[in-house]
Amino acid sequence: MSHLDAPGSMSHLDARGPMSHLDAPGSMSHLDAPTIIRTKRDGGALSDAAIDWVIDAYTHGRVADAQMSALLMAIFLRGMTRPEIARWTAAMVASGERMDFTDLRRDGKPLALVDKHSTGGVGDKVTIPLVPVVMACGGAVPQAAGRGLGHTGGTLDKLESIPGFTPELSKSRIRQQLCDIGAAIFAAGELAPADRKIYALRDVTGTTESLPLIASSIMSKKIAEGAASLVLDCKVGSGAFLKTEEESRELAHTLVELGTGAGLVTRVLLTDMSTPLGRTVGNAVEVTESLEVLAGGGPPDVVELTLALAAEMLDAAGIDGADPAQTLDDGTAMDRFRELVAAQGGDVGALSDGGLPVAYAETITAPRGGTMETIDAMAVGLAVWRLGAGRSVPGERVQSGAGLRIHRRPGEPVSAGEPLFTLYTETPERFEAAIAELDGGFSVGDQAPPERPLIIDRITSGD
Ligand code: URA
Repeated sequence: MSHLDAPGSMSHLDARGPMSHLDAPGSMSHLDAPTIIRTKRDGGALSDAAIDWVIDAYTHGRVADAQMSALLMAIFLRGMTRPEIARWTAAMVASGERMDFTDLRRDGKPLALVDKHSTGGVGDKVTIPLVPVVMACGGAVPQAAGRGLGHTGGTLDKLESIPGFTPELSKSRIRQQLCDIGAAIFAAGELAPADRKIYALRDVTGTTESLPLIASSIMSKKIAEGAASLVLDCKVGSGAFLKTEEESRELAHTLVELGTGAGLVTRVLLTDMSTPLGRTVGNAVEVTESLEVLAGGGPPDVVELTLALAAEMLDAAGIDGADPAQTLDDGTAMDRFRELVAAQGGDVGALSDGGLPVAYAETITAPRGGTMETIDAMAVGLAVWRLGAGRSVPGERVQSGAGLRIHRRPGEPVSAGEPLFTLYTETPERFEAAIAELDGGFSVGDQAPPERPLIIDRITSGD
């Protein structure tokens, strides 16, 4: 056992906390990537010093992608203790800037800063209607959002299907937007840059489905972004990264512990992700469905989750007396969304005139009549990824037009030969692989599936 195996060891680096400059290039550091990889590969716990060093060195290019990939795979296979996760998260926060909005005022009052993040799902477009609902209710949302990860979609990839929309915002622009309109949805940029690099690597190295890596990825961005309170949507089921309720509960408790430890009011909703959310999965198609929700319609599950998360966010931010459902009915949330899109350079006209990207379409029809029994969220997520909505190499351009429409959701009647799914891609040679992913991923039978609650539980720091 080397000194690296001792969590909380009293090394001189520990006393300095994350981002010690002792390890700057050319220093006499006693730490090195191969030893750290071997320690985790063999099931040891990484010391604080090792974690601080490897995150700092990777952020600054002194640890190679190949070495970090090996370490991520070792973490994926061996896991991390809670103290290791806390230190890994702190080191990722310390890899970049931290924003602070406590000096900002709107109408002379401090902003009610609150944000939301999902652990990743299929068809999970909820951030898009949710942020304007919370804006309309008086909250201020600094949202550092992500790109697609594995089989799950990313808010930034979806919003970039609106012509002109940019998530690349400077710090001063984020501050200005928070004061002027009450929200900004942005790429994390200089917030937790270690996560930006590790996130992109995880996406293409089969290391996404790891509790420590998910928890530290989400919380490093959220702690750095400067929201005072945070609501997390922790997914459970086939389309989630962690499939079982037990694993998702463990993730939820870890998220709450990390958030509370960093001084954030942190709440988690545990929600079902065995079936995709809503009727669309992909980039532009999910924006279109979000607009339906903002117009007072849309699929009931998307509306239910949007309103439940909005209620939690308002409560966490101490905002009383607002009615999130009313903002969808009376159009105020839609107005706020248009303001947000315009503020970030998006073509607001494209939202109403069908100007979102179009693509080639292929339909899958019902092999028999009956009832749609199941639609497996993972199969749909992979099909949409194959259609071009996600990446297979870092930095790849995703297709705005790639996606899928679900015509019959579980429990709905099906007639033989009618369309069940429409698939969209800008490159029709992708249809074959996408259709193969869906093979066995849905079933039409004679029985309605048992009803599943969408919201399974609520977890706070007292639990
Ligand atoms: N969202 C993130 O930011 N990171 C993850 O690992 C999963 C979801």
